[in-house]
Amino acid sequence: MQVPAARIVFSQQDQQEIHEQMAGILSSGSLTLGRHTREFEDTFAAAHRAPHAVAVSSGTAALEIILRSVGVAGRDVIVPSNTFYATAAAVTHAGGRVVLADVDRATLALSAATVEASLTSNTAAVVLVHIGGLIPPNVDELRRLCDRRGVPLVEDAAHAHGSTFDGRHAGSFGVAAAFSFYPTKVVTCGEGGMIVTADEQIRDDAVVYRDQGKAGFLGNVHIKPGYAWRMSEIHALVGKVHLRHLDEFLAVRARIAPLYDTGLAEIPDVDPIPVPAACTSNYYKYVALLSPALDRSMLKKELKEHYGVSLSGEVYEMPLHQQPVLAEEAAQLSLPVAEDVCARQICLPLHSDMTEDEARYVVTSLGAATTDLADRAES
Ligand SMILES: Cc1ncc(COP(=O)(O)O)c(C=O)c1O
Repeated sequence: MQVPAARIVFSQQDQQEIHEQMAGILSSGSLTLGRHTREFEDTFAAAHRAPHAVAVSSGTAALEIILRSVGVAGRDVIVPSNTFYATAAAVTHAGGRVVLADVDRATLALSAATVEASLTSNTAAVVLVHIGGLIPPNVDELRRLCDRRGVPLVEDAAHAHGSTFDGRHAGSFGVAAAFSFYPTKVVTCGEGGMIVTADEQIRDDAVVYRDQGKAGFLGNVHIKPGYAWRMSEIHALVGKVHLRHLDEFLAVRARIAPLYDTGLAEIPDVDPIPVPAACTSNYYKYVALLSPALDRSMLKKELKEHYGVSLSGEVYEMPLHQQPVLAEEAAQLSLPVAEDVCARQICLPLHSDMTEDEARYVVTSLGAATTDLADRAES
């Protein structure tokens, strides 16, 4: 059996519908920010029980627009070191200074405890990343800390479509949240992003920023330093069709994850990151930690070459404070938990149409591959 690292699920029926409606878009003369964009926004907001959603060209753009709207220029923004580069890039592009903080070992995300020491009077925002789709169960404590210090909490929800904590959806914990529709995400439209917020001012600002800072779609008066962050109608159509399957995708992923939990309990060198009871992860990633003795790249190679199982990319392989591009900002930083979890994590393949047979095969292969490596190390 071969199990790929990722599988993007568009049924024949969905592909057919997209083809048919695409013709309508091409002949309508309305190719950007039109009916499909509005419908995608409305259905995405409804799926996340959010008052407002604004579609943009990428998750990075969504984050930058939120940060511009909150106002971070010339000030500090606290970001976890265990995140994708885009989280930090959005801060820099919005004119802020990236301050990297360590993460909580239980969630791989920021917590009040990891943020508190970095908060100063110059902090303009804190960006919480829901790693792998897990909303940290201590999110309310972090929000309370931010509120006490008058600092907006922003959610980087690029991983967290449909995830909940305590019955509340990703996007409802901060002043606004940025989602990504990059192809590997649980909902995709090829490339795209969505801002979700209950704040009317952020919603109104976002609509202006995404279209070159223009006061209105049809005019030519520029009132903000915006950019070409629009979503095309073609992307919106694809996203709208994919979004319809969110509940189905979440159900498949929620059926597979416990098979991994049970399987890993029998593999001594690989530990899952348990999802706390009040959290419903979308399992964008199924993250597990290897014992320090196991070499991740050798394990991945062994799984792929001998068993046909490809692991997906980590979240993340290297913490941001060790990335060459951030060497100046992060010089001398030591963030031990981020360093440890980045060095030891793997992500098991988890697709929105994964079969139980595939999941069992992944577990069996992982058990065999870890034993192979341990035997080789001993001999
Ligand atoms: C945590 C995180 N933040 C931001 C982004 C940026 O999203 P996009 O690639 O849509 O710009 C991603 C995308 O992979 C991400 O994983």
